[in-house]
Amino acid sequence: MAIPDSFLEELCGRVGLADVIGRHVKLIRRGREYTGLCPFHEEKTPSFTVNEEKGFFHCFGCGAHGGVIDFVMQVENLPFREAVARLASAAGMRMAEETPEERVRADARESAYGVVEKAAAYFEKCLRMPEGAAALAYLGGRKLDDGTIARFRLGFAPGQRGALAGALARKGVNEDQLAAAGLLIRPDDESRPPYERFRGRIIFPIADARGRVIAFGGRALGEMEPKYLNSPETVLFQKGRVLYGLAPAADETRSQGEIIVAEGYMDVIALHRAGFGNAVAPLGTALTEDQLRLLWRLAPDPILCFDGDRAGLRAAVRAAERALPFLRAGYGLRFAMLEAGEDPDSQSRRYNDPMFLRHAITHADSVANLLWRVESQGRTRIPEKERADLEGRLKRHALAVADETMRRHLLNTFRERLWNARATTRATGNERPPGAQPVTVAGPGRGAAPSRDVHLQRKLVALLIRHPQLFADVEDEFGRLGFEDDALESLREALVEILGGPEAREPDAVVDALEACGHGAVLDSVFGDPLLQGVGYLAPEAEPQAIRRTWDEALGMLRHRENAAEIAALGAAGPETLTESEVERLKALVESRNALHDMEP
Ligand code: UTP
Ligand code: MN
Repeated sequence: MAIPDSFLEELCGRVGLADVIGRHVKLIRRGREYTGLCPFHEEKTPSFTVNEEKGFFHCFGCGAHGGVIDFVMQVENLPFREAVARLASAAGMRMAEETPEERVRADARESAYGVVEKAAAYFEKCLRMPEGAAALAYLGGRKLDDGTIARFRLGFAPGQRGALAGALARKGVNEDQLAAAGLLIRPDDESRPPYERFRGRIIFPIADARGRVIAFGGRALGEMEPKYLNSPETVLFQKGRVLYGLAPAADETRSQGEIIVAEGYMDVIALHRAGFGNAVAPLGTALTEDQLRLLWRLAPDPILCFDGDRAGLRAAVRAAERALPFLRAGYGLRFAMLEAGEDPDSQSRRYNDPMFLRHAITHADSVANLLWRVESQGRTRIPEKERADLEGRLKRHALAVADETMRRHLLNTFRERLWNARATTRATGNERPPGAQPVTVAGPGRGAAPSRDVHLQRKLVALLIRHPQLFADVEDEFGRLGFEDDALESLREALVEILGGPEAREPDAVVDALEACGHGAVLDSVFGDPLLQGVGYLAPEAEPQAIRRTWDEALGMLRHRENAAEIAALGAAGPETLTESEVERLKALVESRNALHDMEP
């Protein structure tokens, strides 16, 4: 007889994890965790940790991991039921006999698991049948290989009414069960026959945290509306409590300590293919509180991916606002902003290279940074008359945080940013100098924000100004570059001149020299680039290796993009029209692209 989930939840809530474990292991408090000698393997220095808030123990030595019930089962060598009974009696909870309703519900769930599993297998099979050919071709067109299709158990629901019901009837599944599992729709008008919910769609099975299929998503082939359709809420499926891809992502997350949240099915799959096995997605809605809690159980700072356009930024802010009340140490969020108009799937296909996704993810913004960027519209200077208003909006965000330490941290960060935006170190006063382009993140969509190339170019320039000692190592490659933007290009030339000169210079002296030759405005746009705010590699104390790595990465990406553009242009001309030297050039470009690719970790 199954023990109701509600009982287990209450039990785990009542017994203290550290309390129970503390009876077997001598625990020492370390910040938010306890550590001690692992009871499951021999050790002299403690690698066993207990996290009370998250409700699990973990041993970095032997990998033992679990919650309070697992601990009792393992340490006392008890079966699940008895471990629960022992904890329950200690907590003064009676192991309730199931009520008849609970019994019926539990039976319904068990039967529903069987039904959806059979349906999942049927859909998988249909993808390989003649009627699935168009669906298979569609997936091929989206660059999914057989291994990926199998791993995610993608399938096809035939268009014909009665197909699923007929096939599953042969496996002993009746109409009532199919309807309860959300697979069959019964018209209100009972004289009309029931019909399948998913018809003529690609099927994405949705699994629970243990990997059991509980529901489906279905994508139209081509332009049919609605594009995506999900199972309705059933005994197995409450969409606000489920994350697509959670089961496979959980293992990866435990070893990496990081989890990535995308928007849709195809994005999760694209992230997997790009090497991010730790990716999940909500199911057509914004992240719910339940989903945030699920994420925080697995990782301290889940990374949410958003389209870099205006709507994406707005969605990121909404997600931040939803999370604000719960933020505290170990319960944060980060925001990976992709290029405008892209999701992880389209971005990785656009460049056919995971480097761009990886870049966005490793440079994901903190909550403070995101809110500042959006509220300040990416400006480095805030006119006096707007300050109070901006300050008010930022404060309102910070005050939504319940945890005092985190709230203070946000308030301090915003105060400091506001101060910097007024008291500029440069003598041009409060107004933007003539000619400087305002940098707007939240500008009117595509094209308004600086292009990725310009951002990378600014990054190179900023690195050299802040760390002039780098120049000796990169003189050649920097000298050979050419920037499209006139102001940035003359800044680059002046920088080569100054740094290549006989005098060794401090960063401030470099800035003075550049200002003296009229580059003040473009310097503002470089150091005002929203993506360069608060980054560690521009700080005076940055490690030389980190500086160099950032340089190589930025230069690599810049070259890669230039190459990609040229390859595309030469490719578009058609191979037969190319001259011999153009063919040579194309070969060299492809080779260099592959070399850049290999350079990535
Ligand atoms: P989108 O409509 O933005 O499309 O839905 P997409 O992910 O870019 O789709 P592709 O790339 O054209 O295939 C975003 C995601 O929201 C979920 C799906 O996971 C979808 O991938 N969604 C949307 C649902 O689950 N149910 C819906 O009814 C709508
Ligand atoms: Mn998409």
